[in-house]
Amino acid sequence: MCTANAAKSVICEITANYPVDGETFILHCTWTGPAPRAGQFFMIKPVRFSFFLPRPIGVFEFNPVQNTVKFLITRHGKGTQEFSQMQIGEKMQLTGPFGNAWADFLPDSGSAALVSGGAGIAPLAALVAEKPDYNFHFYAGFKTGFKEKEQEDAMLGAGKNAKKVIIAAEDGVNALSGRIVEYFFEPEKYDIIFSCGPFEMLKALLLKCNKKDVPCYVSMESRMACGAGACLGCTIRTTKGNRRCCSDGPIFSSKDLIINE
Ligand code: FES
Repeated sequence: MCTANAAKSVICEITANYPVDGETFILHCTWTGPAPRAGQFFMIKPVRFSFFLPRPIGVFEFNPVQNTVKFLITRHGKGTQEFSQMQIGEKMQLTGPFGNAWADFLPDSGSAALVSGGAGIAPLAALVAEKPDYNFHFYAGFKTGFKEKEQEDAMLGAGKNAKKVIIAAEDGVNALSGRIVEYFFEPEKYDIIFSCGPFEMLKALLLKCNKKDVPCYVSMESRMACGAGACLGCTIRTTKGNRRCCSDGPIFSSKDLIINE
């Protein structure tokens, strides 16, 4: 069901790079290639490090007027640490967009719950921007709550325009206290559920959705080398056999995922 938009490799320029909290930052780049769809990702690497393997990063926002793409990134290793230190005007190689998109699975009408954990909010916020009239309810979970409104707005992105927004934080600061799945009571109220976030969160959510037999799709993470289906480095096991996270996903039906390992 994937609607392909041919990937392209482009040397882009960083137009902004700023932190939103201790671990998370937002990177803006120019982008003149094919328009990415919400849920797709780019393989990105700084031009100045020729040895650097590109990292897969999902699209947070695409602006077709300004020809810019925005990424919400959490520092969790050498690569993302490098990205966080890059300066405005530096060159970045972007290759993409890759993968399937949320809209490949979204019914024409109805209601959908979007459930995110941490920076997993990015691809789901992109979907709200892509389908602004759709009846989305956004459930967003974070480790720590936002101390300032500007910080919350930056982190939620277009997700704050969903018809309903529920925010939980494990420290309970300016949010419901606890994990977001604890506040996701009735999956059966929705026609479909989309989710992205840490595996433990996805697992808890999928158990709830599968029990009520509500269709649920999740964006999976995996280490990637090529991003284009060639190296098999991102293979995950599913009930239908091995699948490449980059080109068969990154979005998979919960029915196909093996979650009890
Ligand atoms: S990253 Fe190479 S096949 Fe997926």
